[in-house]
Amino acid sequence: MLGPVILAASRSDRMRRLVSAAPVTRPVVDRFIPGETVDEILPIIRELTGDGLELTMDVVGEDITTPGQAAAARDAYLELIDRLKPLELGTRAEMSVKLSMFGQALDGGHELALANVRPVVEAAAEIGTTVTLDAEDHTTLDSMFAIHEELRKDVPQTGCVIQAYLFRTEEDARRLAANGSRVRLVKGAYKEPAEVAYQQKHEIDKAYVRVLRTLMDGEGYPMIGSHDPRLISIAQELAHRAGRKPDEYEFQMLYGIRSDEHLRLAAEGHRMRVYTAYGTDWYGYFMRRLAEKPANLRFFVRSMITK
Ligand code: FDA
Repeated sequence: MLGPVILAASRSDRMRRLVSAAPVTRPVVDRFIPGETVDEILPIIRELTGDGLELTMDVVGEDITTPGQAAAARDAYLELIDRLKPLELGTRAEMSVKLSMFGQALDGGHELALANVRPVVEAAAEIGTTVTLDAEDHTTLDSMFAIHEELRKDVPQTGCVIQAYLFRTEEDARRLAANGSRVRLVKGAYKEPAEVAYQQKHEIDKAYVRVLRTLMDGEGYPMIGSHDPRLISIAQELAHRAGRKPDEYEFQMLYGIRSDEHLRLAAEGHRMRVYTAYGTDWYGYFMRRLAEKPANLRFFVRSMITK
């Protein structure tokens, strides 16, 4: 019950101001977003890659309101890529981007987001790595998939995300699996209406398995974005049945969630990528993590009360 309420709050400006200003928020936020600047995040990148993990880096931010903010988002990613270059990590550190942060929701937003994301994708390719386009709410997805297709003409390794809770996803998966895309499959983190998305956990989990089978049997590179132990063992089984070698798919989890499992899968010889977010505009990302697990909210509220 609490999840949808928190997700609604994640889009409220009033709540954003309230939560962001609370002095006790930062230590709780740190669990999921372990830094605000490139200088703060570089040691984390070194530590995680040193542990045999791979990374996808997210400069937090979404739903910006001016073209200037979209350009600033592009520049933040370009700075990160520039700072990653001497580390020579190649695909061990890729980027994840949200097109709403690149201006997708503004006037002429589709073209603006494409114009802003293209230099990031090209800069990433120059240092031997890639970019994955995150999936946001369902109204943004036609534009996201069109941008993905456009970017792949020059940089075919550009990836995208699909969300098991959406009815449309099985068809999207068939298309992406047939054209050889890198695809991260997640359950879905936004508040979506019953007209477009499954609402019950067991329905979403069943859809996840159906879509995963399509990806594993297809021509592309499946990226299993989940912390769910049941889905992770099903993924291993499906990869085995599809005859995929360990470097022909990968697992992905979020920084701060089931960290022991990150290390366990990597130690077993799996490619394990940790989605690591940093930056100052962390509100939306943070609230979705609270919504996924109400126990996180209780911890957050308790820390506000006991301070
Ligand atoms: P589920 O929610 O069932 O969780 C399984 C178990 O994992 C829980 O029982 C708990 O132990 C643990 N867990 C999960 N979430 C937790 C949390 N917040 N705090 C503490 N423990 C938690 N979504 C989207 O819409 N667009 C996107 O682009 C992405 N990108 C993305 C990248 C990566 C690498 C991951 C792992 C996830 C995303 N997501 C996403 C989020 C995704 O849609 C989903 O909301 C979360 O992964 C939670 O779903 P699980 O599959 O982990 O299962």
